[in-house]
Amino acid sequence: AHSENGRLKQLYAQVSQLYHHILVNTKLGESALEYLHARGLSDEIINEFQLGYAPTDELLQAFFHEKKIDDYQLLRRSGLFSERKDETLKERFNDRIMFPIRDQMGQVIAFSGRALTADKKVPKYLNSPEGPLFNKRKILFNFDKAKKTIRHTGEVFLFEGFMDVLAAWRAGIKNGVASMGTSLTTEQIYLLEQTATKLYVCYDGDAPGKAAARRALELISPLHKFELGVVLLPEKLDPDEYVKKYGEASFADFVMQNRQTELEFYLEYYKQNKNLENEHDQLEYITAILEKVAQVTDPLLRDLTLGRLAKEFGIERVNLESQLQVLLTRFQ
Ligand code: GTP
Ligand code: MN
Ligand code: MN
Ligand code: MN
Ligand code: MN
Repeated sequence: AHSENGRLKQLYAQVSQLYHHILVNTKLGESALEYLHARGLSDEIINEFQLGYAPTDELLQAFFHEKKIDDYQLLRRSGLFSERKDETLKERFNDRIMFPIRDQMGQVIAFSGRALTADKKVPKYLNSPEGPLFNKRKILFNFDKAKKTIRHTGEVFLFEGFMDVLAAWRAGIKNGVASMGTSLTTEQIYLLEQTATKLYVCYDGDAPGKAAARRALELISPLHKFELGVVLLPEKLDPDEYVKKYGEASFADFVMQNRQTELEFYLEYYKQNKNLENEHDQLEYITAILEKVAQVTDPLLRDLTLGRLAKEFGIERVNLESQLQVLLTRFQ
């Protein structure tokens, strides 16, 4: 481990252990530990994910001094500091819960820190900057741990946030991953398609979550690599809030019983902001759905959806089919 990357990984491993130690064993970490307990995280899961706490912006330099780590260039490139005008280093993470971000092999390559307060002046989550080890387009939180279950079941759940992955884990869903707070990328899909055949998008149940789910589907669907599903949570909850409100067992049940196909998702999604009593909106809606149907290759799924549309709007099915044919020739 004498390469620059090797030394960086060693540094991250040490820092991750330090943050975890501060959280679970020290007075400095008490209020942060309280916070996590209050959010329903047990010591077991805190340990499993090696969650930590960065108490001040004056922790690491003292630690490195003690460990006789004095390679200034390495520290400067580590992403753990920002540089002051006089070139001295200031620690990036300060009074934050620390989530270690790991590569596929389980080695820590970055952190995301969550603020303890809802102060609007600081970002809720702060990530390490990108660098030689960390390209956030290529990283999925928890992929290292999830991949065993993903291989075993062929299924992967995609969540919006770290806390959602942890909530799902508590509910026994260990094949959950999350992107780094950004939209899903083609690189991340590529990572998943090596191990999974079914992908469930389980984003927050609020409007931004639904819009993000639609964008994820539009990115994944044309690749025809996965059987796709969507889980929409009720009451605009995210998985973490759902577990808090209804419990772990109820979350697992809800997920298993409310997996929608891609087209079922659109049947609901396109109803937003439409008045379906109105003929103009009806036509717009039916056209939008048929355009999605035209892009789906599964004949059973197409058939089901046409049946639903015909029934809901009292339309002759043959008319839907001929309209679909028009769209199909247009897409070819
Ligand atoms: P909690 O409030 O702790 O439950 O987090 P959350 O995951 O519910 O947060 P939210 O739904 O607002 O955001 C989803 C994900 O987007 C988070 O897990 C982060 O990865 C990311 N995110 C949220 N806020 C920020 C931010 O201020 N900066 C960055 N870089 N990412 C963010
Ligand atoms: Mn947010
Ligand atoms: Mn949200
Ligand atoms: Mn959320
Ligand atoms: Mn949340």
